[in-house]
Amino acid sequence: MTDETTTPMIQMRDVNKYFDDYHALRDINLDIPKGQVVVVLGPSGSGKSTLCRTINRLETIDSGNIHIDGELLPEEGKDLAKLRAEVGMCFQSFNLFPHLTIRDNVTLAPIKVRKLSKADATKKAMELLDRVGIANQADKYPAQLSGGQQQRVAIARALAMDPKVMLFDEPTSALDPEMVNEVLDVMTDLADEGMTMVVVTHEMGFARKAAHRILFMAEGSVIEDTDPNTFFDHPESDRAKDFLGKILGH
Ligand SMILES: Nc1ncnc2c1ncn2[C@@H]1O[C@H](COP(=O)(O)OP(=O)(O)OP(=O)(O)O)[C@@H](O)[C@H]1O
Ligand SMILES: [Mg+2]
Repeated sequence: MTDETTTPMIQMRDVNKYFDDYHALRDINLDIPKGQVVVVLGPSGSGKSTLCRTINRLETIDSGNIHIDGELLPEEGKDLAKLRAEVGMCFQSFNLFPHLTIRDNVTLAPIKVRKLSKADATKKAMELLDRVGIANQADKYPAQLSGGQQQRVAIARALAMDPKVMLFDEPTSALDPEMVNEVLDVMTDLADEGMTMVVVTHEMGFARKAAHRILFMAEGSVIEDTDPNTFFDHPESDRAKDFLGKILGH
C-alpha cells in the first residue's frame, strides 16, 4: 500500500462535515494522485472552501478520514503541526505579517518549525522570491507591495516549507484585474513543476489550461469529476450547465 506510484497524495474517504445541523460536506470520496492539479468549481456555499480547509485540518470532520501521502491526518498536537506543514495554503486574503519584511515573512516558519538556520532560511527565501519574481522587494514591508506582489509572497512563504500539496482558495479574487495573471502565472509554473494542487478559482482560463481535473460541487457533494474539456464542453448535470451558463455568459 505504500507503493510510491499508487499512494494518492490526498485521499478522502466518506468524509462528512456538519456546521450544527447544516450538512456542509456529504460523503466526499476523493483520490488525488501526486502531481495532479485539481480545480474545484461550484456555486457559492457549495462547500469548496470547506473541502480545502478540511484537507489541512483547519476544519475538523465529523466522519470519514483523510490521508496525506499515505498518512492519516492527525487530530491534534505535534503530528498535526508536522503534517499541516506539508500542506501549504493560500487564501484570498494574503495574511502576511505586516510588521515583518517580505524576507522575514518567508523565513519565519522554516526557522521556527523546520529549524533551519537563519542563513539557510534566508538563502531559500531569496531563491523562492526570485522564482515568484519579487526578489528585489525583499526588504520592503507587505503594505508597500501591490496585491499581486503580496499574493506572490504568500505563495513563496507557503513553498518555503517544502509542502507536498498546495491548496489555493480563490487566490486572485481580491486582486485588481491587471494583477490576476502574474499570480496565475506563478501557479501555472508550480503546476508544470509537478506540484499537487487543489485550486478553488473563478478563473476559467486557468481551469481549462492548468487543471488536469475539475471537481464540480453543489450542496456539499462532488457532482461532476472529470477532465476540463469534458466539463466545459459537455457538462452532464443541469447544475453544472446552469453554473457555466452564468459564469461564461457575461
Ligand atoms: N464556520 C462556519 N460556520 C457555519 N457555517 C459555515 C461555516 N463555514 C461555512 N459554513 C457554511 O457551509 C456551507 C459551505 O461553505 P463554504 O465556505 O465551503 O462554501 P464555498 O463553496 O466556499 O462558497 P463561496 O464560493 O461563497 O466561497 C455554506 O452554507 C456556509 O454558510
Ligand atoms: Mg469559499
